[in-house]
Amino acid sequence: MVNTAIALPRVFVTRRLPEPALSRLQQAPIVLDLWPEAGPPPYEELQRRVAGCQGLLCLLTDRIDEALLAAAGSELRVISQMAVGVDNIDLAACTRRGIPVGHTPGVLTEATADLAVALLLATARRLVEAANDVKAGRWHTWDPMGWVGPDVHGSTVGIVGLGRIGAAVARRLQGFAVRLLYHNPRPSPWAAEVGATWVPWETLLAESDFITLHCPYSPATHHLINAAALAQMKPTAILINTARGGVVDQEALEQALRTGRIAAAGLDVTTPEPLPADHPLLSLPNVVVLPHIGSASLSARRRMAEMAVANLLAGLAGERLPHCANPAVYG
Ligand code: DGY
Repeated sequence: MVNTAIALPRVFVTRRLPEPALSRLQQAPIVLDLWPEAGPPPYEELQRRVAGCQGLLCLLTDRIDEALLAAAGSELRVISQMAVGVDNIDLAACTRRGIPVGHTPGVLTEATADLAVALLLATARRLVEAANDVKAGRWHTWDPMGWVGPDVHGSTVGIVGLGRIGAAVARRLQGFAVRLLYHNPRPSPWAAEVGATWVPWETLLAESDFITLHCPYSPATHHLINAAALAQMKPTAILINTARGGVVDQEALEQALRTGRIAAAGLDVTTPEPLPADHPLLSLPNVVVLPHIGSASLSARRRMAEMAVANLLAGLAGERLPHCANPAVYG
């Protein structure tokens, strides 16, 4: 009698996934080690649990670097991340080791665009501040100057990164009759369809009433919004970030918001995540901070988990990943 269990690949999954992806994983021919806690495994625990595994399914809260890959050992055949962004993963190191990295593009585009527009409206029209005032009994009367903010309709919106998500945001904003500017390193294939005009970086900064960030985080976009960029923006400008916290120099932003250099900011992403409750940004009335919920619609999260499992199982079977973040690994 042959003991087939010995041949089953071992997989570490760093968080409970939504259904039906979790059931698919539990029924797959693998030895499954599922991190049971609500928060991410600490880095040292991740190193211990991944040692000797053939597969790793991780989240953007897990740091996957050279040391982690060394701890995993030479058996690791696939890393699958339940996110489109993979800036927490050293892709070059994975490629050098021949490990394909899966991710989840496309399925969270619409949910993230919905959230970006919601955050833009909420920040401009001061929804959080106003709702908090109502709950705290600070609404005394209809006030001609109470909770006033700038118009979104008819404004100029600058999109940094007119990719899939940036274009989905632009499509939604067409309904607000805005003038759309964008800046990308290369012209965007979506520009004509969404009616967005490419402008130099300085023009986007100087002319936009709202600047919304949709670029990937990389060394090239680290602190793209820094003190120099903020100094070129209108004093009435509002910054929206649903990309990654690292795209913004947070200290410079805090200073700009405190001194009125720009008017307000809506941030779904920060550095670190979560921000400590006593972080200075959280004490500012002109900032709306959300807990990285761009993709937090039921269907987007379900589909992200399904894609992550599909990528994982393909990698374990030695097949090309349906959605690979480092295609160079295939030569
Ligand atoms: C991603 O997939 O990169 C998103 O940030 C998750 O919401």
